[in-house]
Amino acid sequence: MRIVLGVSGGIAAYKACSLLRRFTESGHDVTVVPTAASLNFVGEATWAALSGRPAQHEVFEQVHEVPHVRLGQSADLVVVAPATADVLAKAAHGMADDLLTNTLLTARCPVVLAPAMHTEMWLHPATQANVATLRERGVHVMDPASGRLTGADSGPGRLAEPDEIAAYALAAVGDQARPGATGDLSGCHVLISAGGTREALDPVRYLGNRSSGKQGYALAADAAARGARVTLVSTTERPAPPGVEVVTVESALELRDAMLARAAGADAVVMAAAVADFRPAERATSKIKKTHDPADPDAAPTIELVRNPDILVELVQQRGPASAPVIVGFAAETGDEHGDLLSYAREKLERKGCDLLVANEVGEGVTFGQDISTVHLLRRGSEDVRTVGPADKSAVAAAVWDAVVAMRAAP
Ligand code: C5P
Repeated sequence: MRIVLGVSGGIAAYKACSLLRRFTESGHDVTVVPTAASLNFVGEATWAALSGRPAQHEVFEQVHEVPHVRLGQSADLVVVAPATADVLAKAAHGMADDLLTNTLLTARCPVVLAPAMHTEMWLHPATQANVATLRERGVHVMDPASGRLTGADSGPGRLAEPDEIAAYALAAVGDQARPGATGDLSGCHVLISAGGTREALDPVRYLGNRSSGKQGYALAADAAARGARVTLVSTTERPAPPGVEVVTVESALELRDAMLARAAGADAVVMAAAVADFRPAERATSKIKKTHDPADPDAAPTIELVRNPDILVELVQQRGPASAPVIVGFAAETGDEHGDLLSYAREKLERKGCDLLVANEVGEGVTFGQDISTVHLLRRGSEDVRTVGPADKSAVAAAVWDAVVAMRAAP
């Protein structure tokens, strides 16, 4: 795919280096078009070295090749990261005073803008109106992430993570291709769960886990890019990949209801969520107070837990003898003195009854919230194991869908 990566003048320009690497490592041809201001943050030599071709930013260079028209016309995808308030304003008003803004006007492919700016600038009615105009015209404007900004301040305005932008952009291309899609999941409806459940103790507290939801979102983005209709049942607030329907839930019981209600019509179901095995037996209706016994002020409450249902097992039971949907489970595993990771994974695959188990190697600091993981794909009724990684979560997602496509072709 021919990608134009526009970079405008914000401190987050350095993150575009990682985004560029993700695109080139996936085999795409990337031309970087930095604005003049952005070259104060990352210089031309960096872009040339990372993309393997000169960065382009002059309308009046190589005029005989008409670069301001050619770049946009020949691109399959244009991504601007970071997109400053200034670039959003120029794009919304059709201004064209440099190569990047010219390219935005000539592009007829999906255009993805990943904003980054201070919170006040993002929330300003002028910026919000520009974003609304662009979205109305079909431009994919991501929501910025929230968090620490350049100074001491924090709020919405941080550039989304390079992985997220790459997945979103990929899905934007798939989204455009969906009517009459040619991907190997076209015509399929896939249902994916993502994130860690939150089991409420009272109106302000919950028991949770460290799952980031990244794997589930990578699965959703890749399935959408391959032409599937995607429903993502998620516990997180991450921006949805384009074209993906998101159902937001919190607890294991909510996740279970959402999944069971939608699984019957699906072609594939992937349980990537980290579902809590236990929940508090009771949810207090008001905040649990520090002291409830004046005679014993240091007393702490005892919280009784009950088991949550195993949603994966219930999905398999609900399907019964039918061949669809293909059901995929995840398992975070380590070996120990009684067995290795693969034998535990095989035992879990049999016990849960799903068709494919993706066994994640976990350990101290590994997998949860990380971008890189190593997984083993085990298929029911087969001794073969496919190992993927260490690889990023989009590569794991691609391997999972490859396996699902193969299983649908030869059940
Ligand atoms: O048993 P374990 O938690 O290791 O199984 C992991 C797999 O089972 C994951 O696919 C997870 O989404 C699913 N699961 C579930 N319901 C639970 C616990 C886990 O569906 N209560």
